[in-house]
Amino acid sequence: MTTTAGRGVDWAASAAGLAPAVPSIELDAVCFAYPDGTRALRDVSLRVAPGERLAIVGQNGSGKSTLARHLNGLLRPTSGRVLVAGVDVAAQHVARLAALVGLAFQNPDRQLFAGRVSAEVEFGPRNLGIRGAELTGRVSAALEAVGLADQAATNPYDLGYSRRKLLALASVLAMRTPILILDEPTTGQDARGVVRIRDVVADAAAEGRTVIAISHDMTFVAECFQRVVVMRAGRVVLDGPPDIVFAEQAWPELRATYLEPPLAARVGSRLGLGSTPTEAALVAALKPANAT
Ligand SMILES: Nc1ncnc2c1ncn2[C@@H]1O[C@H](COP(=O)(O)OP(=O)(O)OP(=O)(O)O)[C@@H](O)[C@H]1O
Ligand SMILES: [Mg+2]
Repeated sequence: MTTTAGRGVDWAASAAGLAPAVPSIELDAVCFAYPDGTRALRDVSLRVAPGERLAIVGQNGSGKSTLARHLNGLLRPTSGRVLVAGVDVAAQHVARLAALVGLAFQNPDRQLFAGRVSAEVEFGPRNLGIRGAELTGRVSAALEAVGLADQAATNPYDLGYSRRKLLALASVLAMRTPILILDEPTTGQDARGVVRIRDVVADAAAEGRTVIAISHDMTFVAECFQRVVVMRAGRVVLDGPPDIVFAEQAWPELRATYLEPPLAARVGSRLGLGSTPTEAALVAALKPANAT
Protein backbone atom coordinates (compact mmCIF):
# COMPACT_ATOMS: atom_id res chain seq x y z
CA MET A 1 0.00 0.00 0.00
CA THR A 2 1.19 3.49 -0.81
CA THR A 3 1.47 5.65 2.27
CA THR A 4 2.09 9.28 2.88
CA ALA A 5 3.48 10.94 5.97
CA GLY A 6 1.56 13.18 8.33
CA ARG A 7 -2.15 13.56 7.75
CA GLY A 8 -2.06 12.43 4.13
CA VAL A 9 -4.91 10.48 2.59
CA ASP A 10 -3.75 7.06 1.44
CA TRP A 11 -6.75 4.80 1.43
CA ALA A 12 -8.73 2.50 -0.73
CA ALA A 13 -8.15 2.85 -4.43
CA SER A 14 -4.76 4.50 -4.07
CA ALA A 15 -3.28 1.01 -3.89
CA ALA A 16 -4.67 0.33 -7.34
CA GLY A 17 -3.23 3.58 -8.69
CA LEU A 18 -6.62 5.27 -8.79
CA ALA A 19 -7.56 8.53 -7.10
CA PRO A 20 -8.25 7.90 -3.39
CA ALA A 21 -11.92 7.10 -2.94
CA VAL A 22 -14.07 6.88 0.15
CA PRO A 23 -16.38 3.88 -0.10
CA SER A 24 -20.15 4.01 0.27
CA ILE A 25 -21.98 1.86 2.81
CA GLU A 26 -25.26 0.14 2.15
CA LEU A 27 -27.47 -1.97 4.36
CA ASP A 28 -30.09 -3.84 2.42
CA ALA A 29 -32.99 -5.30 4.48
CA VAL A 30 -30.65 -6.35 7.29
CA CYS A 31 -32.08 -8.52 10.06
CA PHE A 32 -29.98 -9.85 12.89
CA ALA A 33 -30.72 -12.15 15.82
CA TYR A 34 -28.18 -13.05 18.51
CA PRO A 35 -27.70 -16.75 19.22
CA ASP A 36 -30.05 -16.50 22.22
CA GLY A 37 -32.81 -15.41 19.83
CA THR A 38 -32.78 -11.65 20.62
CA ARG A 39 -33.83 -9.90 17.43
CA ALA A 40 -31.61 -6.82 17.45
CA LEU A 41 -32.05 -5.57 13.86
CA ARG A 42 -35.30 -5.77 11.90
CA ASP A 43 -35.26 -4.96 8.23
CA VAL A 44 -32.76 -2.11 8.32
CA SER A 45 -32.05 -0.49 4.97
CA LEU A 46 -29.71 2.48 4.89
CA ARG A 47 -27.29 4.05 2.44
CA VAL A 48 -24.43 6.19 3.71
CA ALA A 49 -22.78 8.28 1.02
CA PRO A 50 -19.01 8.77 0.94
CA GLY A 51 -18.01 11.63 3.23
CA GLU A 52 -21.32 11.79 5.05
CA ARG A 53 -21.50 12.64 8.78
CA LEU A 54 -24.21 10.43 10.20
CA ALA A 55 -25.37 10.12 13.81
CA ILE A 56 -27.34 7.12 15.03
CA VAL A 57 -29.50 7.68 18.11
CA GLY A 58 -32.08 5.64 19.97
CA GLN A 59 -32.98 4.24 23.35
CA ASN A 60 -30.84 1.64 25.14
CA GLY A 61 -31.04 -1.70 23.42
CA SER A 62 -32.46 -0.32 20.15
CA GLY A 63 -29.73 -2.00 18.08
CA LYS A 64 -27.23 0.81 17.45
CA SER A 65 -24.08 -1.05 18.50
CA THR A 66 -25.30 -4.18 16.75
CA LEU A 67 -25.65 -2.15 13.56
CA ALA A 68 -22.13 -0.70 13.98
CA ARG A 69 -20.66 -4.18 14.41
CA HIS A 70 -22.14 -5.18 11.06
CA LEU A 71 -20.22 -2.45 9.27
CA ASN A 72 -16.79 -3.86 10.02
CA GLY A 73 -17.80 -7.50 9.69
CA LEU A 74 -17.73 -8.32 13.42
CA LEU A 75 -21.32 -9.52 13.00
CA ARG A 76 -22.94 -10.98 9.89
CA PRO A 77 -26.63 -10.40 9.09
CA THR A 78 -29.05 -13.23 9.74
CA SER A 79 -30.66 -12.08 6.51
CA GLY A 80 -30.07 -9.16 4.16
CA ARG A 81 -26.75 -7.69 3.05
CA VAL A 82 -24.17 -5.13 4.13
CA LEU A 83 -22.16 -3.63 1.29
CA VAL A 84 -19.00 -1.56 1.70
CA ALA A 85 -17.71 -0.03 -1.53
CA GLY A 86 -20.45 -1.96 -3.29
CA VAL A 87 -19.08 -5.32 -2.15
CA ASP A 88 -20.83 -7.62 0.33
CA VAL A 89 -18.95 -7.49 3.63
CA ALA A 90 -19.37 -11.28 3.91
CA ALA A 91 -17.23 -11.62 0.77
CA GLN A 92 -14.50 -9.20 1.83
CA HIS A 93 -11.21 -10.19 3.33
CA VAL A 94 -10.99 -9.17 6.99
CA ALA A 95 -7.74 -7.26 6.35
CA ARG A 96 -9.23 -5.24 3.50
CA LEU A 97 -12.26 -4.37 5.58
CA ALA A 98 -10.03 -3.35 8.51
CA ALA A 99 -8.26 -0.91 6.18
CA LEU A 100 -11.58 0.64 5.17
CA VAL A 101 -13.66 0.71 8.36
CA GLY A 102 -12.40 1.75 11.80
CA LEU A 103 -14.71 1.13 14.77
CA ALA A 104 -14.06 2.63 18.21
CA PHE A 105 -15.99 0.38 20.60
CA GLN A 106 -18.61 1.62 23.05
CA ASN A 107 -16.72 -0.16 25.84
CA PRO A 108 -12.98 0.59 25.49
CA ASP A 109 -12.05 -2.36 27.68
CA ARG A 110 -13.28 -4.71 24.97
CA GLN A 111 -10.83 -3.07 22.58
CA LEU A 112 -7.69 -2.38 24.63
CA PHE A 113 -5.18 -5.12 25.31
CA ALA A 114 -1.62 -3.72 25.15
CA GLY A 115 0.53 -2.92 28.18
CA ARG A 116 1.56 0.49 26.89
CA VAL A 117 -0.42 3.33 25.37
CA SER A 118 1.93 3.68 22.37
CA ALA A 119 1.81 -0.08 21.67
CA GLU A 120 -1.97 0.04 21.73
CA VAL A 121 -2.08 2.80 19.11
CA GLU A 122 0.64 1.16 16.98
CA PHE A 123 -1.14 -2.16 16.71
CA GLY A 124 -3.71 -1.28 14.03
CA PRO A 125 -1.44 0.55 11.58
CA ARG A 126 1.26 -2.11 12.06
CA ASN A 127 -1.27 -4.70 10.98
CA LEU A 128 -1.88 -2.61 7.87
CA GLY A 129 1.85 -2.87 7.09
CA ILE A 130 2.83 0.64 8.21
CA ARG A 131 6.38 0.93 9.58
CA GLY A 132 9.14 3.41 10.46
CA ALA A 133 8.59 7.17 10.44
CA GLU A 134 5.10 6.81 9.01
CA LEU A 135 4.12 4.61 11.95
CA THR A 136 5.70 6.91 14.53
CA GLY A 137 4.00 9.89 12.91
CA ARG A 138 0.60 8.24 12.97
CA VAL A 139 0.92 7.23 16.61
CA SER A 140 1.94 10.69 17.77
CA ALA A 141 -0.70 12.44 15.64
CA ALA A 142 -3.44 10.15 17.01
CA LEU A 143 -2.33 10.62 20.62
CA GLU A 144 -2.07 14.37 20.06
CA ALA A 145 -5.62 14.46 18.62
CA VAL A 146 -7.09 12.90 21.77
CA GLY A 147 -4.84 14.75 24.24
CA LEU A 148 -2.80 11.73 25.33
CA ALA A 149 0.56 12.75 23.84
CA ASP A 150 2.20 12.78 27.27
CA GLN A 151 0.94 9.27 28.16
CA ALA A 152 2.72 7.20 25.49
CA ALA A 153 4.53 5.05 28.06
CA THR A 154 1.60 4.61 30.44
CA ASN A 155 -0.18 1.30 30.95
CA PRO A 156 -3.72 1.78 29.52
CA TYR A 157 -5.20 0.31 32.70
CA ASP A 158 -3.62 3.08 34.74
CA LEU A 159 -5.74 5.57 32.80
CA GLY A 160 -9.23 6.44 34.00
CA TYR A 161 -12.30 5.36 32.00
CA SER A 162 -12.64 8.58 30.01
CA ARG A 163 -8.98 8.45 28.93
CA ARG A 164 -9.19 4.75 28.07
CA LYS A 165 -12.08 5.71 25.85
CA LEU A 166 -9.94 8.40 24.18
CA LEU A 167 -7.12 5.86 23.79
CA ALA A 168 -9.47 3.44 22.05
CA LEU A 169 -10.39 6.31 19.73
CA ALA A 170 -6.69 7.10 19.08
CA SER A 171 -5.99 3.49 18.16
CA VAL A 172 -8.68 3.67 15.50
CA LEU A 173 -7.60 7.12 14.27
CA ALA A 174 -4.06 5.84 13.70
CA MET A 175 -5.40 3.43 11.09
CA ARG A 176 -6.62 6.39 8.99
CA THR A 177 -9.53 4.44 7.63
CA PRO A 178 -11.78 6.26 5.15
CA ILE A 179 -14.79 5.23 7.28
CA LEU A 180 -14.74 6.05 10.97
CA ILE A 181 -17.37 4.67 13.35
CA LEU A 182 -17.52 5.98 16.89
CA ASP A 183 -19.78 4.15 19.34
CA GLU A 184 -20.78 6.60 22.10
CA PRO A 185 -17.58 8.69 21.80
CA THR A 186 -18.58 11.41 24.29
CA THR A 187 -19.64 9.10 27.14
CA GLY A 188 -17.76 10.00 30.31
CA GLN A 189 -15.97 12.97 28.70
CA ASP A 190 -15.73 16.40 30.30
CA ALA A 191 -16.17 19.54 28.17
CA ARG A 192 -12.55 19.40 26.99
CA GLY A 193 -12.90 15.76 25.95
CA VAL A 194 -16.09 16.55 24.04
CA VAL A 195 -14.30 19.39 22.20
CA ARG A 196 -11.53 16.94 21.22
CA ILE A 197 -14.07 14.51 19.85
CA ARG A 198 -15.85 17.27 17.96
CA ASP A 199 -12.49 18.23 16.44
CA VAL A 200 -11.81 14.60 15.48
CA VAL A 201 -15.17 14.47 13.69
CA ALA A 202 -14.60 17.84 11.98
CA ASP A 203 -11.06 16.91 10.88
CA ALA A 204 -12.17 13.56 9.48
CA ALA A 205 -15.03 15.26 7.65
CA ALA A 206 -12.67 17.92 6.27
CA GLU A 207 -10.56 15.11 4.82
CA GLY A 208 -13.65 13.74 3.11
CA ARG A 209 -13.91 10.66 5.31
CA THR A 210 -17.26 9.19 6.34
CA VAL A 211 -18.00 9.54 10.06
CA ILE A 212 -20.75 7.56 11.77
CA ALA A 213 -21.29 8.19 15.47
CA ILE A 214 -23.69 6.56 17.85
CA SER A 215 -24.62 8.92 20.66
CA HIS A 216 -27.03 9.78 23.42
CA ASP A 217 -25.73 13.37 23.43
CA MET A 218 -28.29 15.22 21.31
CA THR A 219 -26.39 18.52 21.38
CA PHE A 220 -23.26 16.81 20.03
CA VAL A 221 -25.41 15.08 17.41
CA ALA A 222 -27.16 18.27 16.27
CA GLU A 223 -23.96 20.34 16.20
CA CYS A 224 -21.62 17.87 14.49
CA PHE A 225 -23.70 15.73 12.12
CA GLN A 226 -25.59 16.48 8.94
CA ARG A 227 -27.88 13.45 9.14
CA VAL A 228 -29.55 11.72 12.09
CA VAL A 229 -30.96 8.20 12.07
CA VAL A 230 -33.28 7.32 14.96
CA MET A 231 -33.63 3.65 15.91
CA ARG A 232 -36.28 1.94 17.98
CA ALA A 233 -36.52 -1.79 18.69
CA GLY A 234 -34.15 -2.71 15.88
CA ARG A 235 -35.75 -0.50 13.23
CA VAL A 236 -34.99 2.89 11.70
CA VAL A 237 -37.92 5.15 12.61
CA LEU A 238 -36.59 8.57 11.53
CA ASP A 239 -33.86 9.58 9.10
CA GLY A 240 -33.09 13.15 8.13
CA PRO A 241 -31.09 16.31 8.81
CA PRO A 242 -31.07 17.67 12.41
CA ASP A 243 -33.54 20.47 11.61
CA ILE A 244 -36.11 17.87 10.52
CA VAL A 245 -35.39 15.12 13.07
CA PHE A 246 -35.32 17.59 15.98
CA ALA A 247 -38.26 19.73 14.72
CA GLU A 248 -41.32 19.83 16.96
CA GLN A 249 -43.33 17.63 14.57
CA ALA A 250 -40.86 14.78 15.22
CA TRP A 251 -40.91 15.06 19.02
CA PRO A 252 -43.63 12.46 19.61
CA GLU A 253 -41.54 9.94 17.65
CA LEU A 254 -38.40 10.96 19.58
CA ARG A 255 -40.15 10.72 22.93
CA ALA A 256 -41.48 7.28 22.01
CA THR A 257 -37.84 6.21 21.91
CA TYR A 258 -36.98 8.12 25.12
CA LEU A 259 -34.97 10.84 23.41
CA GLU A 260 -35.06 14.48 24.45
CA PRO A 261 -34.49 17.02 21.63
CA PRO A 262 -31.45 19.32 22.13
CA LEU A 263 -31.99 22.31 24.43
CA ALA A 264 -31.67 24.79 21.54
CA ALA A 265 -34.51 22.99 19.71
CA ARG A 266 -36.76 23.13 22.77
CA VAL A 267 -36.04 26.81 23.42
CA GLY A 268 -36.58 27.73 19.76
CA SER A 269 -39.88 25.89 19.75
CA ARG A 270 -41.12 27.58 22.94
CA LEU A 271 -40.27 30.96 21.44
CA GLY A 272 -42.10 30.08 18.22
CA LEU A 273 -38.92 30.31 16.15
CA GLY A 274 -39.34 27.08 14.19
CA SER A 275 -36.69 24.38 14.13
CA THR A 276 -33.46 25.48 15.83
CA PRO A 277 -31.51 22.27 16.55
CA THR A 278 -28.24 24.07 17.32
CA GLU A 279 -27.21 27.05 19.41
CA ALA A 280 -26.09 28.80 16.20
CA ALA A 281 -29.50 28.21 14.58
CA LEU A 282 -31.23 29.54 17.68
CA VAL A 283 -29.06 32.69 17.78
CA ALA A 284 -29.62 33.26 14.05
CA ALA A 285 -33.40 32.91 14.51
CA LEU A 286 -33.34 35.37 17.41
CA LYS A 287 -31.51 38.07 15.47
CA PRO A 288 -33.62 40.55 13.56
CA ALA A 289 -33.68 39.71 9.84
CA ASN A 290 -31.55 42.72 8.88
CA ALA A 291 -28.87 42.28 11.57
CA THR A 292 -25.50 40.82 10.60
N1 LIG B 1 -24.12 -10.50 22.81
C1 LIG B 1 -25.45 -10.40 22.88
N2 LIG B 1 -26.23 -11.50 23.07
C2 LIG B 1 -27.58 -11.38 23.13
N3 LIG B 1 -28.24 -10.22 23.02
C3 LIG B 1 -27.51 -9.10 22.86
C4 LIG B 1 -26.08 -9.13 22.78
N4 LIG B 1 -25.63 -7.86 22.61
C5 LIG B 1 -26.74 -7.09 22.58
N5 LIG B 1 -27.85 -7.82 22.74
C6 LIG B 1 -29.25 -7.36 22.73
O1 LIG B 1 -29.53 -6.85 21.42
C7 LIG B 1 -30.34 -5.67 21.50
C8 LIG B 1 -29.59 -4.52 20.85
O2 LIG B 1 -28.43 -4.26 21.62
P1 LIG B 1 -27.39 -3.13 21.21
O3 LIG B 1 -26.22 -3.28 22.13
O4 LIG B 1 -27.14 -3.19 19.75
O5 LIG B 1 -28.23 -1.80 21.55
P2 LIG B 1 -27.74 -0.29 21.66
O6 LIG B 1 -28.75 0.51 20.90
O7 LIG B 1 -26.33 -0.16 21.25
O8 LIG B 1 -27.94 0.01 23.22
P3 LIG B 1 -27.13 1.01 24.20
O9 LIG B 1 -27.70 2.39 23.95
O10 LIG B 1 -27.49 0.51 25.57
O11 LIG B 1 -25.67 0.90 23.90
C9 LIG B 1 -30.64 -5.47 22.97
O12 LIG B 1 -31.85 -6.12 23.25
C10 LIG B 1 -29.49 -6.19 23.67
O13 LIG B 1 -29.88 -6.64 24.95
MG1 LIG C 1 -24.65 0.42 22.24
